[in-house]
Amino acid sequence: MTPLIQLTGISKTLRGQGKPRSVLTGLDLTVHSGESVAILGRSGSGKSTLLSLIGLFDRPDSGQYLFCGNDISRIGERRSARLRSDEFGFVFQRFFLLKHLTAAQNVAMALVNGQGWLPRRKRRARIMAALDQVGIAHLAKHKPARLSGGEQQRVAIARALVREPRVLLADEPTGALDTETGNLVVDALQATTARGCGLILVTHDHDHAARMGSMLRLAEGALHRAEARVPA
Ligand SMILES: Nc1ncnc2c1ncn2[C@@H]1O[C@H](COP(=O)(O)OP(=O)(O)OP(=O)(O)O)[C@@H](O)[C@H]1O
Ligand SMILES: [Mg+2]
Repeated sequence: MTPLIQLTGISKTLRGQGKPRSVLTGLDLTVHSGESVAILGRSGSGKSTLLSLIGLFDRPDSGQYLFCGNDISRIGERRSARLRSDEFGFVFQRFFLLKHLTAAQNVAMALVNGQGWLPRRKRRARIMAALDQVGIAHLAKHKPARLSGGEQQRVAIARALVREPRVLLADEPTGALDTETGNLVVDALQATTARGCGLILVTHDHDHAARMGSMLRLAEGALHRAEARVPA
């Protein structure tokens, strides 16, 4: 089967105000549809940089990026913006919900921009299906202030899912949550793979990482198989 994502020999140097920093140096990664991958790694190892390359917010200096078998390493800004909104869903540590809107209206925001017009009933069905997928359809009419942190993050996941992306990229989605609430959120993310979504979860939490199909560690610019922690 053709992989959803195939990165080969990806390198990226970040140039800020200080001296340039070689963050990724010949990184390889393959993710299939329905697969979940956890990425661990020390702070500053380049995890967010990697997600921004995969999600087409930035581009590598060298290496090849195949998406569903198509070489998108050198595509222009317009095509990458299109792919980004059609094929990728993003979840971050902060939920970025609009506080004056209900859960359903927050999810609806993802359908407002870019994507073609949908008849009202279809929109409504899609929104409710996305909320249902993360187990919070009953909270559709609640505003964020009435939701717990874990529920708010699940609204954010529903918002990422409502466009039916092929890939879900989550950058420390449980960073602001306690472990137990985090587990619920990780389970909600993991459940999306049953429908064929590819999931890449960046996390500092080893237990959350262990719930994914595979665990990788980013170190010295490349990904390495992460060892399962031996129980004490
Ligand atoms: N514009 C820039 N110019 C130079 N260096 C940068 C720039 N942006 C980020 N960096 C550095 O690149 C490295 C990788 O950053 P990145 O955010 O990808 O790490 P991370 O693994 O996501 O870390 P964390 O776990 O803290 O989120 C860091 O050392 C960061 O300081
Ligand atoms: Mg980061």
